[in-house]
Amino acid sequence: MGELSTQVVIIGGGPSGLLLSQLLHVCGIQSVVLERKTKNYVLGRIRAGVLERGLLHLMREAGVADRMEREGFTHDGTLICYGNQMFRVDFKHHTSHSVMVYGQTEVTRDLYEAREKSGGEIVFNVEDVEIHDAKTNAPFVTYKKAGTSHRITCDFVAGCDGFHGISRKTIPQKVRKEYEKVYPFGWLGILSETPPVSHELIYVNSERGFALCSMRNTNLSRYYIQCDLSDRPEDWSDNAFWTELKLRLPPDVASKLVTGPTIEKSIAPLRSFVSEPMRWGQLFLCGDAAHIVPPTGAKGLNTAASDVNYLYRALRQFYETGDTSGIDSYSEVALSRVWKAERFSWWFSSLMHRYPDHSEFDFRIQVAELQFLHGNQAAQQAMAENYVGLPY
Ligand code: APR
Ligand code: PHB
Repeated sequence: MGELSTQVVIIGGGPSGLLLSQLLHVCGIQSVVLERKTKNYVLGRIRAGVLERGLLHLMREAGVADRMEREGFTHDGTLICYGNQMFRVDFKHHTSHSVMVYGQTEVTRDLYEAREKSGGEIVFNVEDVEIHDAKTNAPFVTYKKAGTSHRITCDFVAGCDGFHGISRKTIPQKVRKEYEKVYPFGWLGILSETPPVSHELIYVNSERGFALCSMRNTNLSRYYIQCDLSDRPEDWSDNAFWTELKLRLPPDVASKLVTGPTIEKSIAPLRSFVSEPMRWGQLFLCGDAAHIVPPTGAKGLNTAASDVNYLYRALRQFYETGDTSGIDSYSEVALSRVWKAERFSWWFSSLMHRYPDHSEFDFRIQVAELQFLHGNQAAQQAMAENYVGLPY
């Protein structure tokens, strides 16, 4: 049995776990990250690519913002289409803030590089991770790697192991309350090495369903269309995808769309999910381990980052001053912001998709809401404040 000791064991080497470990490192707190997969597997996952200002600040604080500042694209607004209308919500005008378009994969890559450079301990290919004695002051984590058992004693455990991880399930069922909403459609997404059709993102509510034009860089586009939950990516040829996307875009946008071979194609279901509380004894949940949002508005990574922000500051306060107030209020403070991101993601999803179970009435309400947003500056300001990210 390998024996080790650290201050914080972080379960999961996705963006939440890596960002937390890097921020802790910068203020002199030791951690060990346990990741079930390999680094290449984690970096192969393609997720959303819009970063809120709060995450930009955290990346700077963690000392990992250089490439993002160089290669990311600052966006001051977004376009919204419905019927034959198109309008722009101007983030900069309404909030004086912008967002940064920079892929989650790149954020994760930069974090890995920084952890490696500073000798950060990340153990890959771990199996059978278990959290023990989380309700005591002497928790420990056990795992296996290549057939050998290991044990790490620590002060705190951060559960950053995503929706399918073990951390949330370590909290007894009678303590946990879960809230969930599933949506009757999915998103079919592709990446293609083509110039993006628009300088800014375009969200479309078309009669054929939702579409989104996004990007990663000047020659890498990311597009999505709403699809049936029963669809499989292999049912969609590249040609079928481009044809359907064009039918959903306004004609002047469709005519400018540059198509090409896709280099990735996948389908994601849409789900809203929150598990409460986010703390149990010395165990703290962060990111997808505690909550999921539908991707409309790109709040997944950003909400994970807001949890990391609160937890990192709470741990820092504890180690620097002995004050436990940040730790004690973590769950309540993090959840208050999580629920606001849940509300926005649910609202934006409801506004932009065609629901197979909607009545004529529901549809007319949706159109009225789009028209209201189109014509009302206060409504646009509310949207912009949520899109650029509510303050931490
Ligand atoms: N032991 C160790 N690692 C685990 C375990 C386990 N039992 N279970 C899962 N993991 C790892 C996964 O392999 C993954 O690399 O935990 C990591 C969790 O990463 P994510 O699922 O990416 O979750 P998180 O880091 O919270 O990132 C937030 O933002 O855009 C959203 O959903 C998107 O991933 C995204 C998220
Ligand atoms: C993406 O670029 O992948 C993306 C952008 C905005 C969203 C969702 C996904 O709302």
